[in-house]
Amino acid sequence: MQIIKTIDELRSVLKNHSNIAFVPTMGNLHAGHIQLVEVAKQHSECVVVSIFVNPLQFGPNEDLASYPRTLEEDCEKLKAARANIVFVPTVEEMYADFDGKSLHQTMTITPPPIASELCGASRPGHFAGVATVVLKLFNIVQPNIAVFGQKDFQQLLIIKQLVKQFNLPIQIIGVDTVREPSGLAMSSRNCYLTDAQRVSASQLNSALQGIVKSINAGKTDYHQLEQQAKTTLTSQGWLVDYISIRSSLTLLPATDADNQLVALGAAKLGNTRLIDNIEFLR
Ligand code: PAF
Repeated sequence: MQIIKTIDELRSVLKNHSNIAFVPTMGNLHAGHIQLVEVAKQHSECVVVSIFVNPLQFGPNEDLASYPRTLEEDCEKLKAARANIVFVPTVEEMYADFDGKSLHQTMTITPPPIASELCGASRPGHFAGVATVVLKLFNIVQPNIAVFGQKDFQQLLIIKQLVKQFNLPIQIIGVDTVREPSGLAMSSRNCYLTDAQRVSASQLNSALQGIVKSINAGKTDYHQLEQQAKTTLTSQGWLVDYISIRSSLTLLPATDADNQLVALGAAKLGNTRLIDNIEFLR
């Protein structure tokens, strides 16, 4: 497995490959990321994984500085998963206009309106930052396929739109969320949880499962189901950002006409913001 830090070197290594599978990450890898690498491996003998904590997708009061950086352990895990190349650029390498302090000169993508809802409502600019870095990484790696986790359902939808709207010849593959036995979705941010919070953390998934069960049992008042789930989580000590039932095709609020649905939630336990979703048919 090669560890490459510069765009020039990566390009020169990749020019000999015709079928590249790509897994973009921000590192602190867990079983969910390794699953993405395994899926990528099924599609290509050349799997490139990027590890880049992208400053552009963090808000001013978010955890950019403290975001866990565990490069050595990540590389061991990627080697065991038979990744071929790990691309680990610096901020200066990725953003040519970076002045050492801020990225205010950076040209960014304006994502579609759906990027301002759900996670985008409380994280303004987040999806512009994600779409921009993903487009840059796609331009650098020029993969045939790229693999993303379904846990970031809104991100996956926006990246699919990015590829479609910018006519990129890349197949996007979404992979099911990997969960702890408790149901807690694996996330790099789970390491912030205390032992007690880790026990409570599966309540977010339970709340979403409750919604799916109610809809499958014939309940149709989505607003009421969202409110009930919020009330339950709040009484369990969560600070709820949103609980929402949406069309899984468009991420617009679900209507009676939709039968492909997704229940999504974001909420804070202490200072840790967790997200989860369940995609289902009605
Ligand atoms: O999902 C992530 O880890 C990040 O948002 C991504 C796609 C690597 C872009 O920085």
